[in-house]
Amino acid sequence: MSVTPKLRAVTTYRLKEMKLAGEKIAMLTAYDYTMARIMDRSGIDVILVGDSAANVVAGYETTVPMTLDSMIYHGRSVARGVERALVVVDLPFGTYQGDSKLALQSAVRIMKETEADAVKLEGGSEIIESVERILCAGIPVMGHLGLTPQSINKYGTYTVRAKEESEATKLISDAHLLEDTGCFSIVVEKIPAALGRKVAGELSIPIIGIGGGDVDGQVLVSYDMLGITGEFSPRFLRRYDDLHTRMTDAFKHYIDDVKSCDFPSESERY
Ligand code: KIV
Repeated sequence: MSVTPKLRAVTTYRLKEMKLAGEKIAMLTAYDYTMARIMDRSGIDVILVGDSAANVVAGYETTVPMTLDSMIYHGRSVARGVERALVVVDLPFGTYQGDSKLALQSAVRIMKETEADAVKLEGGSEIIESVERILCAGIPVMGHLGLTPQSINKYGTYTVRAKEESEATKLISDAHLLEDTGCFSIVVEKIPAALGRKVAGELSIPIIGIGGGDVDGQVLVSYDMLGITGEFSPRFLRRYDDLHTRMTDAFKHYIDDVKSCDFPSESERY
């Protein structure tokens, strides 16, 4: 009996081809099966199971409390709904920094227990041993530079990063280091557009921006771009709907129907 491996259509190799061809990469976050399935069938290229689940799903102020078990739960839920897109899962805070063996164990758990295609780690030279060890095991790694939300307590602010020359120089050298080590792509978050352009121009792997200007692709948090979250309004965010209002209206309509005995009608009863 022969078993044909079932690779998703969008692979890390395909993303590099897209960059070469000048085709932009569209990436969004998802945390559950239903949303991931809709996104996948809409033709999204990459689905990121972001640790932003800590904010938009679990209601934490930062991503710091996110656990590996929670990421595995979200990753598994998403991967079950995706046939075509590349699925990337964030390694959460405390599961890869400072200990490359722990990093490998965390990444292996993600790959074995979720059926995702790759992992994402925040940081550059500080975490390079972890990146290297994970890559040595054959696990694809996406980097993440610029604003790295897991380090929010170090910086104390979510403002634009790498505006100073020294920070920009470090970001460029980190990007090269991640590429040379073998990362297949890098997310750049909240950095000046000119810096994003420079990094995308110098590297051959795709650079995906969130507030990173016109780079090789874009990523947004799905709850934000759908307008489910209302309060968060950074400059880089384009809202494609106002689901907060539409959901509130639907919930109120349902409550009114229940209270007024309009629901269930005769045709909605057994
Ligand atoms: O966790 C997340 O949603 C992310 C994106 C902001 C890139 O890392």
